[in-house]
Amino acid sequence: MRKLNFSEIKAFQEDQLSFVQRMTEDLGGVAHVNMMGINLFFISEPAVIREVLIHCGDKLHRDPFTSRVFSRFMGNGVFMAEGDDWRRQRKLVQPAFHATRIRDYTEIIANATDQMVNSWQPGQIVIIDEVLTQLTLRIIAKTMFDVDLVDDVARIGLWMKEILTVGEAQLKMPILPPQWLPTPGNRRQQAALRAVKSHLRQIIAQRAATGEDRGDLLSMLLNARDEEGDPMPEDQLLDECVTLFVAGHETTAAALTWTWYLLAQHPHVMAQLRAELDGVLGERQISFADLNQLPYLEAVVKETLRLYPPAFGFGRQVMRPFDALGYHFPRKAVLLFSSYATHRRPDLWSEPEAFRPERFLDTDNSPDRYTYFPFGVGSRICLGNMFAMLEAQVILASMLQRIELTRVDHDPVVMDTLITLRPRDSLRMQVSMPQLA
Ligand code: HEM
Repeated sequence: MRKLNFSEIKAFQEDQLSFVQRMTEDLGGVAHVNMMGINLFFISEPAVIREVLIHCGDKLHRDPFTSRVFSRFMGNGVFMAEGDDWRRQRKLVQPAFHATRIRDYTEIIANATDQMVNSWQPGQIVIIDEVLTQLTLRIIAKTMFDVDLVDDVARIGLWMKEILTVGEAQLKMPILPPQWLPTPGNRRQQAALRAVKSHLRQIIAQRAATGEDRGDLLSMLLNARDEEGDPMPEDQLLDECVTLFVAGHETTAAALTWTWYLLAQHPHVMAQLRAELDGVLGERQISFADLNQLPYLEAVVKETLRLYPPAFGFGRQVMRPFDALGYHFPRKAVLLFSSYATHRRPDLWSEPEAFRPERFLDTDNSPDRYTYFPFGVGSRICLGNMFAMLEAQVILASMLQRIELTRVDHDPVVMDTLITLRPRDSLRMQVSMPQLA
């Protein structure tokens, strides 16, 4: 075990991503350090990831660094809940993400993307991360709550940004001011959260008034009954809604932002992708059935998620001590799993730094789910993983069918690594219309 000195602790707080990579290089796939009395394990070894998260998952809770910040806005929603609460809530929310339901979301996603792109003019400059965040926010609202955010999308987007920006600052704080203390950050975050919840309350009240079961997530939550036959308390309902809003839009927007960044740097990949889309779709709108015929599209998204996994790492705390593959994990130890570090290990990937979607076309040599895990591993794997993959592919295909985007600035992009992995500065791109063959 290595004891971290003051400058290393500071480096960890400032840039977790580089720090974890350095520890992995120095100490291997299970790097055990002591940070101010906390046992910290950075785990990027597939066999250990499997053993710990699959076979010992019941001895783990979410890590305290994430929990103390995320619970402030996600409350006891499915992302934050533990034990029986979590099992009940996951079971309740899961049906909204079944394959059969997800198929029906394809048209909503394609229509929303077409609407966005059709409003653009050739020569226009768009801030790609911002427009994609608004698009994914509209999609989550329409698919989960059957609500069309039109004029209010910008407002809700700003509130969400406020909640997350303050959350990001809080992640860096060694000592978090209690929620009741009226610090500027607490006040801004709470005001934004109140505004989002008040908006959600209106949506919920409108639906409850009609009593209509539209079969979407909101109806599922409203119709849920516990063993005593009571409906879900309003606070819990709001926590679930905020959780899905937060978890369900920024991550996919970040993934797509990175895809556009990579495509702009790799014109041969862009050309191959366009050729595949032209051949299968021509000018017609993409449908769910088309996805099987578009393997390169899927490979491009997967390769982006390998190089830039938006949820670049996740943590757990050991609640009951255990041994796994020769390692002892004591009670209260904090385990950090880094998809970013594992996805770039040179002993696991050939040319790990290169953007090569073809690596995902070789289905005989697919990486296993502990070597490639942009959506996590085990029972707490991303609830929205199939939704997110569908959404990313449909948005990307629909955009590429209608427009070309080229970068306006050519400075190298710096990664921001707080709640999601994304470019630190906005990515400005210029719109043009593709040359038809
Ligand atoms: C590219 C997009 C996405 C990525 C990379 C991603 C990644 C992840 C990861 C790594 C986790 C696991 C965290 C852990 O084990 O501690 C997770 C959990 C979760 N994600 Fe996603 N996610 C994405 C999109 C979505 C979408 C679209 C939704 C919902 C619509 C969603 C909802 C959730 C929820 C509810 C959890 C918590 C699951 C639980 O604890 O049981 N995510 N996500």
